[in-house]
Formats: sequence, structure tokens, C-alpha cells
Amino acid sequence: MNYESKLSCVARGIKSSIIRELLKVANDPGMISFGGGVPDPDTFPRHKMAEIAKDIIENEYKFVLQYGTTEGDQELMQGYIDLLKKYENIDWLNYDNMVITVGSQQALYLIGITLLDEESYCAVSRPIYLGAASAFVQRNPHFINVPLLKDGIDLDYLENELEKLKKEGNIDKFKFTYVVSNFHNPAGVSMGLEKRKKLVELAKKYDFLIIEDDPYGALRFEGEKVDTIYSLAPDRTILLNTFSKVLSPGLRLGVVIGPKEIVRRVTMVKQAADLATPSLTQRLAAKFINENDLMEEIKPTIKLYREKKDSMMKAMKKHLGDIKGIDWTYPEGGLFTWVTLPKEFDTMEMFEIAKKEKVLYIPGVAFYVDEPDKNTMRISFCLPTHEEIDEGMKRLRNSINKYAEQKGIEL
Ligand SMILES: Cc1ncc(COP(=O)(O)O)c(C=O)c1O
Repeated sequence: MNYESKLSCVARGIKSSIIRELLKVANDPGMISFGGGVPDPDTFPRHKMAEIAKDIIENEYKFVLQYGTTEGDQELMQGYIDLLKKYENIDWLNYDNMVITVGSQQALYLIGITLLDEESYCAVSRPIYLGAASAFVQRNPHFINVPLLKDGIDLDYLENELEKLKKEGNIDKFKFTYVVSNFHNPAGVSMGLEKRKKLVELAKKYDFLIIEDDPYGALRFEGEKVDTIYSLAPDRTILLNTFSKVLSPGLRLGVVIGPKEIVRRVTMVKQAADLATPSLTQRLAAKFINENDLMEEIKPTIKLYREKKDSMMKAMKKHLGDIKGIDWTYPEGGLFTWVTLPKEFDTMEMFEIAKKEKVLYIPGVAFYVDEPDKNTMRISFCLPTHEEIDEGMKRLRNSINKYAEQKGIEL
């Protein structure tokens, strides 16, 4: 049978994730991976979670083993409302402002369906979080690709593009600007308060929504905490949060917070996708956050990542620091730094050499919905040990040297 002929255009257009393909060799013996952005499993509070799981399956089986509502478990919603009140000074939320999703990835997908048509426009950063790109690309909208600077997206560029759309008479088709406000994946950079305010001003002026994706905000190692964009403009921001980086990604729990009119539509779209997020993991997370101070619980995790970030910055300076024209970002939190090599480099091509040198990274091409900057790469410091970070950087430098030699690039 010709299965291909039965596929939809969308399914035919989907490419398999570059990351998944590249990281197939991550578990090869002796390999050091700066690739995956997954949390260190030793940070999961497994013993406490095991106790809660046993308790709720035995005693709350009528809820946890049953279908739930599409909106989500109200015990978890309340726990989340309390967390946001305590840590973000957001004290106006009620259940109508939120829907629990299967991770933030589902939220991105649902938002794509809820807001984007083929003729729609949306603004994204370049580079962009790969999962957001794959969710939005399926709707085939027009992308405005805004350069990402060290303090967030280039708002002058964005405004210029919006002016052009206005002149063309297309500004009413512009739906949203998508940002990762803290410790961007893949770039490691954050948006400062003044810029957040300026973005809100633009959103009001040109009448668009802001999608604020914030999986890493709680993982701050240093610097001052900054107000969420959502708290600056709750009537036109949709905040995405997730338990993946602060508790466990295996729970697959995220939350969409926003104006109730939008949340209601997202909920209706979700109903068609899966009826409801699993009751079991929702109640497990609810009990965990109600019985423990989540921010206290993650302090050791933050310490662990801070130390690894320090080792990574030190190793980069030591092994890469003398390369003319190299640049990398300094993350104040999160899991990533973004490296830009001299423009003659193609990190996808160099990947084969790196694999032989037994070090992995993610080539930057994975993070663009337009023509990629091929000389970039994402480096993650969350999984390797301190020794592996230094050794891996040494291997990366060897790979850079070998590639440069092959291509006749002067370093
Ligand atoms: C920026 C960003 N958004 C969303 C997600 C998806 O997270 P989740 O595990 O909640 O689906 C990730 C995961 O790495 C991410 O980095």
C-alpha cells in the first residue's frame, strides 16, 4: 500500500526532530553529551513522590483512576494559584484563568490551533525553542523572525516589522509575539524589566497577545528576579508554566494562565485533543506542592546547576577563549549557553567530527524557522559531571581545530 498517499499535508510536512536523531549516540560508551536539556534525574524527589503515589492510589482512587475535567484538578490549580501569589505577587487568579496541560509542549500546540491560521502572522525569536517552532509550524503561519540579543528579542526590529505590516494593511492578522522570558532555550539569555515593559507597550500599540513561556524562571542561580510579563499585562499575556524543570518532566504537567476568554478556547481545543490531563499525575503534583515548599525543595537543584554552570563557563574560557570571533552567552539560570563560532563554521557538518571525538552538542540549525545561522550551537550543562564538562570542552576544542584544519579556517 502507498501509505504516503494517505497522509495529510501536515503529517507529510513534519520532519523528525534533529535533536532526537543526533542524540541517538548519547549513550555510547565514553560519550560526553552537552546535548539534551533534560533535568538531572537525581534531582527528582522520588521517595516523597513514591509515598504520595501509593497513598493517593489506595485512598483517592475514585479521583486519580477516573476521568477528570478538561480544565484540570482543582487541588492542583489551587496549589498553583497559591504558588503564584507567594512567589510572583499574582493575586488575582481564579480557576477560569487556567487550564492544566500535558506539559508546556501541549500548551504550545493548543495555542497554535487556538490562535493561528495560514494567513496569520506571529513573531518569534531567532533562535527559537524547537518545540514551539514545531507546534507553530504545523499551522503554517507567516513568521516574523526577530533577532535575539543578550537581553531578549530586538524590539526595534519587531516594531519596524509591525509598522510594515500596518502599512500593508495586515496588522489585524498579527496574533502574538512568543518569548521565553527567563533563561531562554536554546540561548540562555533573559529579558530585562525595561524590555518587558516596552514589549507590553508594543502589544498595546499594535494590539497583539504575548505568549510568555517560562519553564526555567524558578531555576535562577544569580541576579535579581524580574516580574513576569504576565504580571505586567495580564489582559494580553498568556503565561505558560511547567513542572518539568522544577519537579519532574515525567509527570507531563504544565499550565496555561491567561485571560479567561482565551483560556476557555484553549480548553475547548484541548478537549478534542485528549479530554483531560491524567488525574493521577495532577493529584500527585498537587499533594507534593501542598505538602512541601517547592522553592525550598529546588534549592539543592539550583545549587547543583549553578556549580555546573560555573564549571562550564570556566571550561569554555580555558578551552575556547582564544578563538578569534567566538562568542557565548552567560546564563543566570536555566540549563543552556549558546555558542557562536566564527561565520565560516557549520556546526552540523562539524558534528560528525565531534561524534568521533566523543562529545555532543546541538547544532544551531535545529532552532530556526528561517535561514539558520549555521555557526551556532546549544550547549547544555545539566547532565555531565564537573570532570566531564572540562574533558568535553577539551574534546569540543579538538573538534573545532580539526574542522578548521579541514576547511582551511584560520583560528
Ligand atoms: C522553552 C520551553 N518551552 C516548553 C518546553 C516544554 O516543556 P514540557 O516538558 O513542560 O512540555 C521546554 C522544554 O524543554 C522549553 O525549554
